[in-house]
Amino acid sequence: MPYPQELKDYIKQVESTRPERVERKRRGEEFASLSLDGREERLKSYHPDYKDDALRDIRVGVSKGYGISPEIVDTLEARSRIDPDRIEFDEVDHEADVLVIGGGGAGGAAALMAAKQGAKVIIATKLRLGDANTMMAEGGIQAASKIHSDSPYWHYLDVMGGGHFTNDPDLVKTLVSQAPKVMSWLEGLGAMFSKDPDGSLRTMHGGGTSRKRMHYAGDITGAEIMRTIRDEIRNHPERIEILEFSPAVELILDENGVASGAVLYNLDTREYVIVRAKAVVMATGGSGRLHMRGFMTTNHYGATGDGLVMAYHAGVPLVFLHSVQYHPTGIVFPEQAEGLLITEKFRGAGANVVNVDGEQFVYEREPRDVEAASIIRECSDDMHKGVPTPTGKVGVWLDSPMLEMLHGPGYVRKEFPGKYILFRRYNIDVAKEPMLIYPTLHYQNGGVEFKPDGATVLDGMYAAGEVSGGVHGENRLMGNSLLDVTVFGRLAGESAAEYASKRDLPSGMNLDHLRKYHEELDKTGIETERVAPVILPDYTNPDVKERQVVIAP
Ligand code: FUM
Repeated sequence: MPYPQELKDYIKQVESTRPERVERKRRGEEFASLSLDGREERLKSYHPDYKDDALRDIRVGVSKGYGISPEIVDTLEARSRIDPDRIEFDEVDHEADVLVIGGGGAGGAAALMAAKQGAKVIIATKLRLGDANTMMAEGGIQAASKIHSDSPYWHYLDVMGGGHFTNDPDLVKTLVSQAPKVMSWLEGLGAMFSKDPDGSLRTMHGGGTSRKRMHYAGDITGAEIMRTIRDEIRNHPERIEILEFSPAVELILDENGVASGAVLYNLDTREYVIVRAKAVVMATGGSGRLHMRGFMTTNHYGATGDGLVMAYHAGVPLVFLHSVQYHPTGIVFPEQAEGLLITEKFRGAGANVVNVDGEQFVYEREPRDVEAASIIRECSDDMHKGVPTPTGKVGVWLDSPMLEMLHGPGYVRKEFPGKYILFRRYNIDVAKEPMLIYPTLHYQNGGVEFKPDGATVLDGMYAAGEVSGGVHGENRLMGNSLLDVTVFGRLAGESAAEYASKRDLPSGMNLDHLRKYHEELDKTGIETERVAPVILPDYTNPDVKERQVVIAP
């Protein structure tokens, strides 16, 4: 639906302050950024992670005592979807050198690199290949590719600063030093990034960056990267087999406790499928569809944190899950698009965030957590400066039309085709009318502990992408997740192939780790009807939900 009259009336306030705000920008007078103390204070007072009930201790498993989002704790303290005593390994359905669990950017990159090393690869994915958060990513991919104005050194400092210097330095070093190579790899595979007339890659700022190093493909960068990786996977059917609608539900170990495959569940035939593999790459993505603290989310429908649960059952520790990323600019109206991402690139290009009075209240390129906390504050009862929506929510304006004044007519449509088309469906022209936004659950900052080569404490299991933790510390900066999935996906794929090349097909496959986990749940007195991995969100259409696994068989 178009904006109703009451919102159009509020928009007049934004229009009344716009010429002055644009003029200030032209003069180079930016809104003052918060001091470090000011940022800290803002986060403590308004960021959801800092609320009293934001964290709950895990009571079982290798990270027992670690406080993380209660919604994730619930999945860890659930029972497995399968009864280990009722799964048999006499017949194996598929065999591979490397089993990649997850069909998004990290899984795809891992599969390609493992196949390049000569491995026979299976990708098992919950929905279709490419149905993943990578596909939904909009704004860009960071890489210090402009050697005259940037270097991995500056990129490193930005990543560390954005993560409040809590990040694992070795992981960050790998991320930033591999970044230019990954850009060349993607371009070589055919990814079409936005370019200047002289053919050089366009770059711009993201929040918290000291250099313009965000490469992009309009505002559909993730879709372009995923398309490229998916096409390349399909070019290699002889090496890469794809099992769609086949979520993994548990890892399988061998008699030495080495990862040796997984139990899948075929959502079409409703059968269990056993995959035996010499190495496993866990690349299941994030968990936004668990809706931490009831927040709306930008995440893909399948983002239910399954890999965290499977890896945890097998003894892999979890790190940095105490911090959740809320993207500052999620759509809060129209209702049909609620939660969807509006890329930070709008702010990178200079769009102000303004309140009900049309006043700018925060520098538009603060690090994400600070920007989100500032928007929550503006809409809170402390400030009462939010705009009420017809659906009973509250938001603030992202002033996209000012970009037409700053960069020339047609800029919004050309640079943000994805959002322009989306809003057009509701008869809203975002080149002329601002967008109503509120923070939305976006990214799982933490995950399973891993090393730069993808290795985890579980022999034979490698991890890459959003399921893993440590690269971004407590706060990821824009454009470093598409980079993360490609850098660490590639490395995990190579390492897994190398590991597989030195191992025979495993024997003694078992689910003993699951029995132990269930025993620990019992001993701790945790009685629950919940089962995990979750696989599909709670509000899934009942006809579809019925297809989900129940305790086997
Ligand atoms: O705002 C964005 O386009 C999001 C990018 C990211 O999370 O990396």
